[in-house]
Amino acid sequence: MDHDVLTRVGPGTPMGALMREYWVPALMSAELVADGTPLRLRLLGENLIAFRTGSGKVGVLDQRCPHRCASLFYGRNEHDGLRCVYHGWKFDADGRCLEQPNVDPPPTRIEVRAKAYPTVERFGLIWTYMGKRDRPPPLPDFPVFSMPPDRVSVWCEQRECNYLQCIEGELDTSHAGLLHHGGAPGRAGPQGSGLDADYPAVKYKVANTDYGMFAGGYRPAGGDRLYWRFAHFLFPFWTQPPPCALGTEAVARAWVPMDDTHTMLFAISTDTFVMAHHRNALLPPEQPGLSFMYEFLPNTSDWHGRWRLATNQRNDYRIDRAVQRDGSFSGIEGLDVQDSAVQESMGAIVDRGFEHLVAADVAVVQARRRLHDAAIEWRDRQAPPPGLDRPETYRTWSGHIVAPAQTDWLEVYADNVPKDAMTKARAEPAARYGN
Ligand code: FES
Ligand SMILES: [Fe+2]
Repeated sequence: MDHDVLTRVGPGTPMGALMREYWVPALMSAELVADGTPLRLRLLGENLIAFRTGSGKVGVLDQRCPHRCASLFYGRNEHDGLRCVYHGWKFDADGRCLEQPNVDPPPTRIEVRAKAYPTVERFGLIWTYMGKRDRPPPLPDFPVFSMPPDRVSVWCEQRECNYLQCIEGELDTSHAGLLHHGGAPGRAGPQGSGLDADYPAVKYKVANTDYGMFAGGYRPAGGDRLYWRFAHFLFPFWTQPPPCALGTEAVARAWVPMDDTHTMLFAISTDTFVMAHHRNALLPPEQPGLSFMYEFLPNTSDWHGRWRLATNQRNDYRIDRAVQRDGSFSGIEGLDVQDSAVQESMGAIVDRGFEHLVAADVAVVQARRRLHDAAIEWRDRQAPPPGLDRPETYRTWSGHIVAPAQTDWLEVYADNVPKDAMTKARAEPAARYGN
């Protein structure tokens, strides 16, 4: 496997080209105000400027003015378009040049355009399409998008590492009983976390699917029963991790590369999905370390200035060694902070040649292989990217459940998700682990 193919997402890279074929969540709708300040947007290694016109339309333009490349970040948002402050050329949300005031005589027809990407606004997010098609594909049909809006939470969080480290963390359920739940006596909490901690060793069932990959991690649950944690990877950067009971909470999490070394999480979920809760109410106090109240640094206008956790690598995630000894396993407070700490600590782009993979990494390896092969197939044969034109394949559910050991894992899943869910996994040979 070529690790550069897996991790590089800028223009002209195989993975970058694959991801550009899908709609990409770019911003939360609330981040752009009509007639408000233009915003620096770093997306798939490109420097873009996002703004909202007076009529509410969103523009996402290359930051370089097509005249002589001054940054449109300094532009004046003038109700129907963004005007470059260098020579006053003005561009609408589609990139059309409306005026060139430094040209005499004024042109009757202006050919030049700013490079602009199409946008749509849905589910509290602004999405953009950076691919080659004249007509972009449909949006993925995640169950959470059909939920009543007042049941759904949307939030963002930036990680200072490559997108794939984040995706791998979501699929690797073997860390749940250690990083998040291990260590503390009397730690058994809600939602199966006691089983995670009691049986940290995990076995997996893994299948390739039309949308990506489906993984079921399983552990003993006492008697003739197994405790399953079902998770999905969905092209090109979506995950559904399993912290809630299977089929009860809908979630879609996009790990959108800002560039090769920074990732923005867009988390959309029903409001009782545990990770959407920025409060402690769901978890009993005897779960040390597992708060969901995150402190964010104030957003800035920097390319990487949005949605940064205040507890971060510059303060060692405020690790408390006394708590690590006697309280939580990690000594780091907050489930997402714990994930950030380990994922960022691997390095901005982990050197996968240094790893020693074991059977517990099989889902991680399978996702890598699937992504890698799809990027190569798209580059070399223009093979249709998984799920791109089949939004219904995204009707998937994650979660955990205890079931009789003799029941096939795909049956356990199908029996416990809503009937309109996409349940057919195209079973393919299990992954080998190793580089
Ligand atoms: S560089 Fe923008 S108008 Fe000249
Ligand atoms: Fe985690």
